[in-house]
Amino acid sequence: MTSEGDQMAESKSVAILGGTGNLGHGMAVRLAGAGHTVRIGSRDAGRAEEAARQVSALVPSAIVSGADNGDAADAADFVLVAVPFASQASTLRSVKDRLREGQIVIDACVPLGTAIGGKPTQLTGVWHGSAAEQTAALVPEGVRVVSGLHTLSADDLADPELSLDQDTLICGNSKADKTAVTELLSTIEGLRVVDAGRLESSRMVEGLTPILIGINIRYKVHSGFRITGLE
Ligand SMILES: NC(=O)c1ccc[n+]([C@@H]2O[C@H](COP(=O)([O-])OP(=O)(O)OC[C@H]3O[C@@H](n4cnc5c(N)ncnc54)[C@H](OP(=O)(O)O)[C@@H]3O)[C@@H](O)[C@H]2O)c1
Repeated sequence: MTSEGDQMAESKSVAILGGTGNLGHGMAVRLAGAGHTVRIGSRDAGRAEEAARQVSALVPSAIVSGADNGDAADAADFVLVAVPFASQASTLRSVKDRLREGQIVIDACVPLGTAIGGKPTQLTGVWHGSAAEQTAALVPEGVRVVSGLHTLSADDLADPELSLDQDTLICGNSKADKTAVTELLSTIEGLRVVDAGRLESSRMVEGLTPILIGINIRYKVHSGFRITGLE
């Protein structure tokens, strides 16, 4: 765990696979706003370039570009997977040759019931145990996986003026990788990063999202997640 958003980490490059979507846009706004270089990825380079222009309009200081998912992923320090669970495997297979040893993949995918015709308030089973473990099985050797961001609201992220005032739980098998991800994400205003254990714990963390979606529907809010009792 680190302090909230008050720690300026060195500027990093972050590729966002599916960066044209809701979470990808919100994270692009926040990471670009924090001074990181953002590469928005898409199946369609033109769509990614348009998404990059939208981020620049919101964050004039942004260093942001758009490219197809493979070009975006190439040589980025971090690769954020921000596609629906149903397209997670195909997306990772499509960029597999562009990932390299030493990169950290941040997996935000949640296996919502919608992936198999169910509801967004339901979680579907994943053969590997969790979406994050599925990603770990698909990336080349030497590429490490940390999961996180599951409980953040894309709408809240997309408002650069809004302090998030919440936690995100991250899971991964390497303490050093979790430290690197913590340093990156802690540059987002009001976001506290909490280490929730090894990658196998991601199954439980991913399960929080459908609960929050249900709360959002019942209370008409953008709920978030906060652990109490931490300094
Ligand atoms: N939305 C949230 O608030 C939120 C919060 C936390 C975690 N998440 C998780 O983050 C992931 C992304 O959520 P989202 O709401 O941002 O999704 P989304 O907007 O529906 O989709 C994101 C992007 O994924 C790509 N995509 C869509 N269908 C695809 C397919 N069949 N094959 C390959 N690529 C496809 C699209 O990019 P291109 O068409 O440009 O390729 C799309 O813009 C999900 O796994 C979700 O569970 C979401």
